[in-house]
Amino acid sequence: MATGLTINGAAVEAVSDPETPLLYVLRDEFELNGAKYGCGLGQCGACTVMVDGEAALSCLMPLMTVEGRDVTTVEGLGTIDDPGPMQRAFIAEQAAQCGYCIPGMMMRAQALLVSNPEADEADIRQALEWNLCRCGTHMRILRAIRRARDELQRTSVEGETP
Ligand code: FES
Repeated sequence: MATGLTINGAAVEAVSDPETPLLYVLRDEFELNGAKYGCGLGQCGACTVMVDGEAALSCLMPLMTVEGRDVTTVEGLGTIDDPGPMQRAFIAEQAAQCGYCIPGMMMRAQALLVSNPEADEADIRQALEWNLCRCGTHMRILRAIRRARDELQRTSVEGETP
């Protein structure tokens, strides 16, 4: 039985077993490899995506729990040729070292700025508590998120979305 959902704005039918973690469905069935497997236990944040606009740990979500819902992955934030504001900010700040945690970081930050476009330093740090970086680029990551926030505030008048 197929499971209907929306991924990055496109309506799709997933044929994986409904109990399969969303992370595996995204990676194995839809070849969206941005979300990463880190711990599989909800402890690292590498698998973070957005579900209905909120950050969610895709390793813990069986496919059946996202039926009819709106899933956004890092691939939905932009492309190599046309990166979105969050992606541009991470590139500008060179926030990645190994890069493994970065898609999850971006999706957590994206969800924060969707719900709180004026997030301050404390808000950002609190939101990012769920996402771990083993390389230690935390300060660059924080700078990137502040840059994205500032750019989005500048462009909100023009109607650009995060
Ligand atoms: Fe999902 Fe670590 S892989 S939280």
